[in-house]
Order: sequence, then structure tokens, then C-alpha cells
Amino acid sequence: MCGIIGYAGKNQAAPFILDGLARLEYRGYDSAGVAVVGPDGNLKIEKSKGRLQVLRNKTEDGKLVKGCVGIGHTRWATHGEPSDINAHPHISMNGKAALVHNGIIENYIDLKKILSENGYTFKSDTDTEVVANMLDFYYNGNPLETIRKVIKMLRGSYTLVIIFEGITDKIYSVRKNTPLIAGLGETGNFVASDIAALVSHTQNMYLLEDDEITEVSAEKVSVYDIDLNLIKKEIFKVDWDVKSAEKEGYDHFMLKEIHEQPRAVRDTISSRIGESNEIILDNINLDYEYLKNVERIYILGCGSAYYVGVAAKYAIEKSCGIPVEVDLASEFRYRFGENTRKMNPNFKGASRGSRINKNTLVILISQSGETADTIAALREVKKHGARTLSIVNVVGSTIARESDDVIYTRAGQEVAVASTKALTSQLSVAFLLAEYIARKLGFAGDFALIDALKKIPEQIEELNKSENKIESYAKEFKSAKVAFFLGRGIDYPVALEGALKLKEISYVHAEAYAAGELKHGPISLIEDGTLVIAVATQDDLYEKMISNIQEVKSRGARVLIITNEGNTSAEEAGDMVYYIPKTHEILTPLLSVIPLQQFGYYSAVARGCDVDKPRNLAKSVVVE
Ligand code: AGP
Repeated sequence: MCGIIGYAGKNQAAPFILDGLARLEYRGYDSAGVAVVGPDGNLKIEKSKGRLQVLRNKTEDGKLVKGCVGIGHTRWATHGEPSDINAHPHISMNGKAALVHNGIIENYIDLKKILSENGYTFKSDTDTEVVANMLDFYYNGNPLETIRKVIKMLRGSYTLVIIFEGITDKIYSVRKNTPLIAGLGETGNFVASDIAALVSHTQNMYLLEDDEITEVSAEKVSVYDIDLNLIKKEIFKVDWDVKSAEKEGYDHFMLKEIHEQPRAVRDTISSRIGESNEIILDNINLDYEYLKNVERIYILGCGSAYYVGVAAKYAIEKSCGIPVEVDLASEFRYRFGENTRKMNPNFKGASRGSRINKNTLVILISQSGETADTIAALREVKKHGARTLSIVNVVGSTIARESDDVIYTRAGQEVAVASTKALTSQLSVAFLLAEYIARKLGFAGDFALIDALKKIPEQIEELNKSENKIESYAKEFKSAKVAFFLGRGIDYPVALEGALKLKEISYVHAEAYAAGELKHGPISLIEDGTLVIAVATQDDLYEKMISNIQEVKSRGARVLIITNEGNTSAEEAGDMVYYIPKTHEILTPLLSVIPLQQFGYYSAVARGCDVDKPRNLAKSVVVE
């Protein structure tokens, strides 16, 4: 998620904007920029890759960028590598309009084609510059009418804050599916992507809604609907300090990020599913000619990313039948190193060759794209000629750059050490990829899966609303010393993730088992009152899961069952039941993981743990 701020006032805009951007640095970014309308009416832009300090040095803390209206941006790259050129703001080819943007324009390629046919050229790889040229192309001297006309042609999610050449006293904004607020200050008025940027200037805000267009001047903030009818907005008084504003009022970044998952999943999938449910996976080059020869797929990762790989295994094997092997990156890299046995020089037969070769597809999953073990495994498999595809959240990270193909999740920066929105975004990409491969290999498309995937964001939203139920369970078990998580099939990686969430932030000894494994040893650990959380969403495995639950119940366990709405028989089997909405059986991890994230979070809160920065852990493990 990018950081956005705009100012219109009596003072010079750039210093205000740079201060506001500084308040947004916590969101994570790879470049920053500022643009103003100078006293002569011309647009002036300064932007650069790297930290905000680079921009401060370039502009003498904004003093060199003269003008009383302006816009600023910290960029978290989604389209186009981090660079000076791709940094925002973007100015139109004829210099009539400049803007900053947060979100994703799904149809920017079609719009870019129309503009190119009308003589427009582009400097950057961004979808944002396309909007700048759209504003330029349709500009009729009335900014509000121009904005209205252009946004009717945009598809996707966007917050746009815009300045126009010759208009030295106003800025404009509009939002759709991404946040934007207006701030009413003493020395001028603001718009910003979140409250943290404004709390030090004002407590009086307008919470802007989708398709509301604003015109902001030093004197007032006018808000219009999509038909340019003036709207009366209520003032929302904010009494947060800066620190709590960065968390948008949530007590911890982890809870904020749990609640950001609907947006993260929506941003990750929306531009990758076409109008007729075709799968558009950016520019990856997995075609039939390559895939038909793939003998095996390896999926590598660490921690939560590894668990996503386990879920992806079930999805890919079910969708196209290619054998998938999932391994911990830290283990895998030693299976194919230099110590492989040499051929007997007297042997007359042909060498079988390495099990990793050009017909091996290796998928690497990593939020940070900088995990040392995963990087090492990537470099190892490339030595053997494997084709590599990575699923990464940080644009331009090492794993992304060194893989043959990369599919970016669009979760925005994940601040909390415990991964949540990156995990559900990775799962979404993995399920799309499984469907993409199946269709490339000639299997009929599972359009019901894609229809169900499109509903997931709103279903996660619903689960976020019922977190107090899980909070009560977490409080009830706040003294538990151990916990067991059980699952079968695609519920097993969810159990693994649930155990990791609990152990990494609550420091409870939590273990996950494939439920069928219980009778092979672990059941000896079950005592009176032992907490067991059973994930039972797979219809064909449900009865077996109920038997496993009865096995542990008969030994004194207290069982929380996560299952699908309608499976009311669970209420006889377990002590507590948490229902998730019905979805496609492959997609259930996207929903069943939510209560487990919440359980881990509220358990950590109940135990007074440092939720966002748990002991001994780092957000990105860049050492082996
Ligand atoms: C997940 O909550 C943990 N923070 C950790 O297991 C993490 O998933 C793992 O270190 C992998 O990190 P990556 O996705 O950045 O490669």
C-alpha cells in the first residue's frame, strides 16, 4: 500500500508534504516524490528511488519546490520496478496534470493502447502514468468534469490525488476501494491515504467514500458525488496519537493486517481474473509446450510460506495431476548439492541425470523475497537447469529478481513479524496458478473455483466481524501450556499455520499433526483439558476427522472445531465449533486460517506478549 498526501493552503506545500510522508514511512516504500503547482502555474516534480531523506536532500527539505498546493507519495511497487522513473507523482505527456495513485488499475493496458493510438508516449512502466495521460487527453478546462469522465473508464482500485497546470490554489482527489481521508486544518486543508499523516496537523477529518470527488483549497474541502452533486460531509474527530494512527486505531499491526486481508486478497486476484474468468498471470511464460514435459514440481519455502506450498501441492495435484513435492528450503538445498554420486566410468549405460533438470518447475514462495535459505535453494536448483517461478510480496527483491518468472502478491508491506495478509495473498496466487497450469495442459477450467475465489474477500470480511468469539476462546485457554492442531488433506497445512501463529507470538508449545497420525504416537500426549483445534472443512474427510476428534475427546481433550456452515454434527463432537462460510473445497484454507490467526493474536494479547515483535524473531530471516 502506498502512502499519499495532498495539501492546499496559505503556506508552501512541499515542507508539509514531506512531513506527512515521513509519518507514512512505517507503511514501507521503495521511492518517494512530491509535486506542486508553482506560482507561475507550472507543475514541478521532484521524485527519487530510495528513502525520503534522498528527496529531502534533493529539495532542501522542500524549500526548492515552491507552490502552495501540492501532492506527495511513498511508493510500494506493484507495477514496475522501484526506480526514479516509476516513482510517483507522474505527470502527463503535455504537462497538464500530475497525480499520485494508490491501488491497481486493472485495465491500464487497454487504456494505454488507446492513448498510444492518440499519440501519447510513456516514460514509466506504471499504470499510474496511464491515468495521468487519460486526464490530459480528456481535459476540458474543468477539473471536476475531467476527473468524472476519466474515472468512469477505470477498472480496479484507486486513490488519485491530482493537480492541474494553471490551477495554483486547488488539489483534487477521488477514491475507489482504497482509503482516503480529508483533513481540515488551520493553515490549509489536506487529503491523505491514512490518518497517521494528518493527526499532527488536525483532528477534524472527512472520511471519504468510493466515487466521492473532492476539491480542496486553503479555505474549504468540497465533496461531490460521481454526478458532481455537492455532498454534505460530517466531521469525524480523531483523538489518536501518531503511533496509534499508524495502526489506524488497531492495538497492533498484526490485527490491522488481519483486517487488511480482504483488500490484500482483492488486490492480488482482481487484475488476474478476466471478465469471463480467464486467468491472467502477468507475463509469466508457462505455456503448453513447456508444461507438457514437466515431470515434477517442487515448491520451496520457509515457515508460513512453506505451509502455503503444502496447500498449493494439494491444489496443483488435484487440478492437473503433476506430482508436486514440497520441501523446506533449508533442507532441500542439501539434497542436490555437490555431494551427488559420480558415475562409474566403466558403466556402459546412460546416466539418469539429475532429478532436477529443465523439465523441473520449482516454485519458491517468500513474502520478503530475501530469506537466505530460500535464496540458496533457488540458486541451487538453477545450477541444475530447473525453471523457477517465485511468489513474492516485495517487488524487486532478490528472489523475485533471480527467478525466471515472478508473480507478486499485492498485500502491501507486512509490518507484523507474524505473517497474515501475505499468507492469504500467497494462497490466492497459488490457487490461481494451479488453475492456470491445469487449463494450459488442456483440462477444463474450474470456473466455480474462480467464482468462489472472487467471493473470498467479502467472506473474510464476515469472519473479521466475528473475531470476538475467537477472542473469548483465547481468553479461556490463556493458561494452556500446550495445544494441538489437527487436519487432513488441505486442512493439514492450515493446522500447521495455526500452530505456528500460536507458538511464534504466544510462546505456547503448539504442534500440528495430520490427524491420521495421532494413533501413531502423538495421542499419548493428550491429557485431561488438553486444547485441540481441529480443522475439518473437507467433506470427503469429515467423518474421519470426527472420529479423530472423538479419539482425543475420550482422552480428556477440549476441542475447538473449525468447519463449514451446516456441519452441525460437529456440535456433538466438539466442545466449541466455529463455522466458516461454504466455499470451493480447494479454497477453504483462505477462510479456515482466519480464526486461527485471530486465536494466535488474542492468545498473545491475553498473555501480554509483544504481538508485533515476538522474542527471538525477525520479519525477514536473511541469515541461514
Ligand atoms: C510467519 O508468521 C513467520 N514470520 C515466518 O515463518 C516466515 O513465514 C518465514 O520466515 C518465511 O519468510 P518469507 O516469507 O519472507 O520468506
